[in-house]
Amino acid sequence: MTDQIVVAIDGPAGSGKSSVSKEVARKLGFGYLDTGAAYRALAWYALDENVDTADASAIADAATVFPYAISLDPDLYWVRVGETDVTSAIREPRVAAAVSAVARVPAVRDSVNAAFRRLIGEATAPGVVVEGRDITTVVAPDAPVRLLLTAAPEVRAARRSAELTSEDAASVAAALHQRDASDARVADFLTAAEGVTVVDSTDLDFAATVDAVLEIVRTQTGEH
Ligand code: DC
Repeated sequence: MTDQIVVAIDGPAGSGKSSVSKEVARKLGFGYLDTGAAYRALAWYALDENVDTADASAIADAATVFPYAISLDPDLYWVRVGETDVTSAIREPRVAAAVSAVARVPAVRDSVNAAFRRLIGEATAPGVVVEGRDITTVVAPDAPVRLLLTAAPEVRAARRSAELTSEDAASVAAALHQRDASDARVADFLTAAEGVTVVDSTDLDFAATVDAVLEIVRTQTGEH
């Protein structure tokens, strides 16, 4: 679809990016693509298949064969690897701990990005909200709406901690800090690239953040 509207949203872990992007997609009647889920699914697959996540060439090979599918429907979100539904499993701390090493391999990013562009092109909705770390810069740099969703580190840690009720707050904050540092080697997701609008959700609740994003979509596309 050539007239499809892509809303590209980048941001760090715990910025509220996934839940906000999903809700924005719902409200607009758009598709929703969670690119981090693909990297997580690959990390899950590598762990499941005993592929060494520190071995870049083994991971790059795995990325070309791993049979994943991802829903673009914000109301019916799922991720599968082969026949296995991994929607919940990819959120486990062991997957979160392995995912940065997987995402940092350039050949992995190339194959995954090609798949993202295909998925976006095949979406039947009038638009797609695509969220990740390098969507505004690499995956969809020409998107008509490009946003960076940020929040103060302590606020992000508190949100993550509320999601992961089984983990204590200090270990969530430490894991988040470690992942920020590790993810920063892949993409500079804390600085907005030229033409990217920053939405800082530190002092905004969920509904206010969704409204702020919708307002920017309206302004920048002149519709919806
Ligand atoms: O957004 P998330 O926490 O589900 O992302 C999981 C991991 O994937 C995270 O370590 C960063 C990485 N990622 C990436 O490198 N590029 C993207 N476009 C999306 C996620």
